[in-house]
Amino acid sequence: MSTIESPRVSVLLSADAIAARVAALGAQLSEDYRGRDVVLVCILKGSLVFFADLLRAVTIPTRCDYLAVESYEGTSSSGEVRFTADLRGAIEGRDVLLVEDIVDTGLTMAYLLEALSARKPSSIEVVTLLDKPSRRRTPVSLRYVGFEIPDAFVVGYGLDYEQYFRNLPFVGVLEEVPSLG
Ligand code: IMP
Repeated sequence: MSTIESPRVSVLLSADAIAARVAALGAQLSEDYRGRDVVLVCILKGSLVFFADLLRAVTIPTRCDYLAVESYEGTSSSGEVRFTADLRGAIEGRDVLLVEDIVDTGLTMAYLLEALSARKPSSIEVVTLLDKPSRRRTPVSLRYVGFEIPDAFVVGYGLDYEQYFRNLPFVGVLEEVPSLG
């Protein structure tokens, strides 16, 4: 039986594989955004681990901000997105990079891109650790992608199931829904 204490999870992306990819993304961003006024936006809570590592892999001056959205119940998308915390700073005239854990249906990112573009940033792009293109319900442009993954529910490295498993150092496939009781 799969439980919260001992879930049935198989490793999809090891901690080492993630670290190597995050270092490469950080180097790429540092190159692409050199000399620009960039704000890295952490999309809570899922991207907090990726964000913390990516931030330290970026070597150019950068500012940080965060926002929180809710879009998901359990393992299936509710299709509804709402802001539960907004950015602290203005983004007008700035180069904004939205840092996301995973783009699945694309509904969250499409909503965010539309809402934040209205604030007139000079540019807005997405960096996502994971992309599940087979699940897309709306097209979104993803400038930087860590890994494309198949259609499976994954946890770890910030991603949760019912708020658990964010602390796993790797990304794993939840093979059986764990009992919470
Ligand atoms: P989307 O709106 O369907 O693209 O979903 C985006 C959000 O759903 C992500 O930021 C995650 O919080 C959550 N999500 C999507 N797929 C997974 C998964 O496999 N594991 C954990 N969370 C997921």
